[in-house]
Order: sequence, then structure tokens, then C-alpha cells
Amino acid sequence: MLKEIYEQPAAIADTLAGRLSEDGAVDLSDTGLGDDLLRRLRRIYIVACGTSYHAGLIASYALEQLARVPVQIEVASEFRYKDPVLDPDTLVIGITQSGETLDTLVAMRLSRAAGAPVMALTNIMGSQATRDADAVLFTRAGLEIGVAATKTHTAQVAALLLFALHLAEVRGGGAAGTAGTDMGGAGGGTRASEASAGGRPEPAELLRIGRELRRAPDLVQAYLDNHRRLDQIAERYHDQRFFLYLGRHVGYGVCLEGALKLKEISYIPTEAYAAGEMKHGPIALLDEGSPVVVVATDGPVYAKVVSNIEEVRARKADVIAVASEGNTDVDELAAAVLHVPKCDPWVSPLVAVVPLQLLAYRIARLTGCDVDQPRNLAKTVTVE
Ligand code: AGP
Repeated sequence: MLKEIYEQPAAIADTLAGRLSEDGAVDLSDTGLGDDLLRRLRRIYIVACGTSYHAGLIASYALEQLARVPVQIEVASEFRYKDPVLDPDTLVIGITQSGETLDTLVAMRLSRAAGAPVMALTNIMGSQATRDADAVLFTRAGLEIGVAATKTHTAQVAALLLFALHLAEVRGGGAAGTAGTDMGGAGGGTRASEASAGGRPEPAELLRIGRELRRAPDLVQAYLDNHRRLDQIAERYHDQRFFLYLGRHVGYGVCLEGALKLKEISYIPTEAYAAGEMKHGPIALLDEGSPVVVVATDGPVYAKVVSNIEEVRARKADVIAVASEGNTDVDELAAAVLHVPKCDPWVSPLVAVVPLQLLAYRIARLTGCDVDQPRNLAKTVTVE
């Protein structure tokens, strides 16, 4: 697992290679998805399980905000029970790194049988998912041996961001547009206002995000080379009985993924919530010293996340924040801060998840768990 965490800069770089030019323009002609289909799309369903679902959830914000297409994300195992409404103008994206997860394959097949075009996002050439799809977007993370997915997750997020930029470009950046997404801005987008509603980003803004995405491998590498305090934090909290994770916007998917990693390899119960939900019940779980991991990187919801941190502090719980370098207001409120390099908010999920993977790894090691042999071994089923 540790080796694969450290392979993430290469996994992301390889996934972007040849698909993102220096000026930030995206070329996804290798997927086999025609522009006519992308232009006429009226809806996207994303179906996936586990870590792949979290990548899809993160991407759903980008697809909706950048490309202005309604996106619905579904746990693949539940999709069929909805008798989903599907048609030729609804794209179904099945995300499965192995390409062999039965629930995702069944959801993809059902969609195809109902006449919806299906795109697979997978890491494995020749996998079943590639045969159950009309188009394939490959991640190029290399084989993932660890049961706890890490490098395939960040590669999925990178590929899906590419797809969101491509879709936005094909559908005409700026055409329905107002002032952009309010997600960028100098120095990595520290604007604290809500994400704008209804505006389609201008082509120049899409190119800017593309250029920011090109920096992702270097940003992850910089964190891996220079991170501090993880050992200290793991040492201090590894014997806790429960961890709560909170985040908003793309940080919500990051916190779900961080919580799954810790649960899966250390067997410590975790819960992850959209931070705004905390007051609707989960706050009752917090006592003095309870560890609450909060994803508080730069972005449009930063100020709201800081106010959630204040609510957690009011319960005397301990905040472990993942924050952008230089955000000193978080330093003052949190019991511990894991600083990540400043970056564009759309790129932040690729960077912010890395300290959470490493924190899970360190805690699991301290509690004597074998991170490479977690209990959950029977995860995929090969389908004829
Ligand atoms: C998480 O670390 C997992 N390994 C698990 O949730 C996994 O993401 C899920 O089983 C889906 O796998 P897939 O991407 O191969 O379909």
C-alpha cells in the first residue's frame, strides 16, 4: 500500500499524458465517445462501488459545475432496484478500477440494454468492463496490488476531471455563461463565496483549470517529499475508538475516502459526513478529545468549513485538519494540521486525499494491522 501511495505522482502523470496540452486543452479522442453524443446529453448517471464511487462523487461536482449537465451518482449495487429512467441521451459512466466488480458491471449492462450509452472508466485493459461499454476511458495507474485502493483512486479523479473539462469544452464553454465557476482565482482560489449557480465557465477558464491539473503530479510529489507531523498525529490518536470525517463540496468525497481507508485497514469505526449534516445528528457522537478529521483546503466553501471546525471545537473535540499551506486560521483552531501544497480547488481532491491515505496507513501500522492483507479480500467476481 505504501509503495502505491508513493506511485501516485506517476499514476496521475501517466493518466494525463497525451491528453492535456501545455496550454490546458484536453484531448480525449482515445475514449471513442463522439462529440455529437456529448453535445446532446441531457443527463449523466455515475455507477460505482467503494473508492471508485468516491472518485465519481468528487467528479460529479466538476461535471455539473463545469459542463452544466445534471449528474446523478448511484451506488452500483442499488442502481438496478430503482428501475432507472434511461434513454439514448443519458450517459452512464461505470467506474471500476479492476473492471470486474459485478455490481458495477450489472448496472452498466442494464443501462446498455435500456438504450443508454455507457462509458467505462477502468484501469485494466481487456477487463470485463471494457466489453460491457460503448466507450472506455482508461486510467494508467499500473497494476494495483493493495486491496486498499490508493493510486487508482487519484488516477480516476484525474481522468474524470479531464472528462469534465472535455465535456464542458465540447458543449461550448461560456455559451450559457455568466462569470465562471468561482472556483479559481489567484493563488489557488481562496474565495470563500458559494459556488456560482447556472454559469458555464468561459473557454479561458477551462484552459486555466487544465493547466492547474497539469501541476497535480508535482503537487502530490511535493507533499510526499515534505510532509510533516503524520507520525506524531498517528501516535497521538491511534488508540481512539472512533473517527469522524467532515468535508464539503469536493472535500466531501475526499473525507468519505479517508474514512473508508482508515476503516478498511485499521478496523477502527469511522463515519464521514457532508459537514453541513453534522448538526443533524452526528454532533452527538463528539466528546472531549474525539478525533474529527476535517478537509479544509482552499475553495469556495472554505469559510463554511472553518465554521464547522468551530462547531466541533465547541464540543471540545479535536480537529485534525487537512489545510492548504498558509491558512493560519485553521492552525489556530485545530489540534493538528496536515498542510498540503496550495492548489486550484478542482485539483485539491488529488492532493488532500494523500495525507488521509498516509494517516490511515500509519494508524494501521501502529495498531498492528497488516495493511496489505485487510479482511476484505473477496471484492471482485469475474463474469463470463
Ligand atoms: C477500497 O479501498 C476498496 N478496495 C474498494 O472499496 C473498491 O474500491 C471497490 O470494491 C470497487 O472496486 P473497483 O473499482 O475495482 O470496482
